[in-house]
Amino acid sequence: MSNARQVAYRCLQRIDHDGAYANLLLQSELGRSKLSERDRGFVTELVYGTTRMRRACDALIDRFLMKEPQPELCTLLRLGAYQLHFAGVAAHAAVGETVELAPRPARGFVNAILRRVGDTPIVWPSDAVRLSYPDWIVERLRSELGDEAEPALVRMNEPAPVSIRDDGYRQDLASQWVAAAVEPAAGEQILDVCAAPGGKATAMAAAGASVIAADLQLHRARLITGVPVVVADAVAPPFPASSFDKVLIDAPCSGLGALRRRADARWRITEPDVESLAALQRDILAAASPLVRPDGWLIYSVCTLTAEESIEHPIPDGFEAIAAPPSDRWRPYGHGWRVLPQDHDTDGMVLIRYRRTS
Ligand SMILES: C[S@@+](CC[C@H](N)C(=O)[O-])C[C@H]1O[C@@H](n2cnc3c(N)ncnc32)[C@H](O)[C@@H]1O
Repeated sequence: MSNARQVAYRCLQRIDHDGAYANLLLQSELGRSKLSERDRGFVTELVYGTTRMRRACDALIDRFLMKEPQPELCTLLRLGAYQLHFAGVAAHAAVGETVELAPRPARGFVNAILRRVGDTPIVWPSDAVRLSYPDWIVERLRSELGDEAEPALVRMNEPAPVSIRDDGYRQDLASQWVAAAVEPAAGEQILDVCAAPGGKATAMAAAGASVIAADLQLHRARLITGVPVVVADAVAPPFPASSFDKVLIDAPCSGLGALRRRADARWRITEPDVESLAALQRDILAAASPLVRPDGWLIYSVCTLTAEESIEHPIPDGFEAIAAPPSDRWRPYGHGWRVLPQDHDTDGMVLIRYRRTS
């Protein structure tokens, strides 16, 4: 029988060494396990927490290593260090139960290292190590957010709260505010060009609008239910010009505002990705904006915090930014709006609303 730490250790090995996606793997492992609700919660915390805090855990451990241990033992030591430093697990349980997971010949070694990790205060070599992010993310958010970067980074190390809409759909509140900012109304024709898995499209349809949900990826488009779905590239959308009252571009982005939602995302995304995503977003803006009818709205959103992926994009030809705030939850940000993760305990997002003037 597997206990919670065994399941967590198995998941972490696959995330650390096989590139498995933390959220997909955890879902399937928990689906197969017979663990209690409480143990499932504990596995989730251990897997997501150890993955987020990987860099900080390595710093806690590396102080006591003479040479790099085998990869499985690295993962096990991270799991132990996470429990000791971040999860508030009592030291005897964190060490004792983690040592049990080690192959017999390695138990003395794991025990010795974890005891020292638990006993020895650390002087962090940098904020990026302490907060457990790649250097470039910390530098980027500092240059974008100044003093607000650290609270954002701290908040994105905490689990995301669960928010459930009236219709039972799980969706982060800031995403709900993006759908509300479209101001969908009965009888309106709305195109959502990057719609999968359908969170915002279904919210807009629930408000009475006729929504078409399009997405490039078939396997993701299949997740959308309750609205008509089209598999299409937003860079070459198969719709006539001026055919929608509103078009929503919830663009593919670096996700730097939503890092707490996917524990492994910070280790996957790279700085050059930001640049190529910004180029894709510009292409989508240019291709999707002509689909809006004169006087209609184009709404652009991203769950990242960088200007390069939002307010630095040129305003599409024939459009002006709408000056009215979408609601008082959004802070003014250039010609758009932004929420930071620490503002309302949501994902961080940027939103821009444009009106077609000609
Ligand atoms: C931020 S997600 C959308 C989330 C969705 N709006 C929701 O609320 O559930 C971005 C989506 O853009 C899609 N995508 C990426 N490149 C695209 C393209 N060139 N054309 C259309 N969709 C694209 C991705 O498959 C992904 O589903």
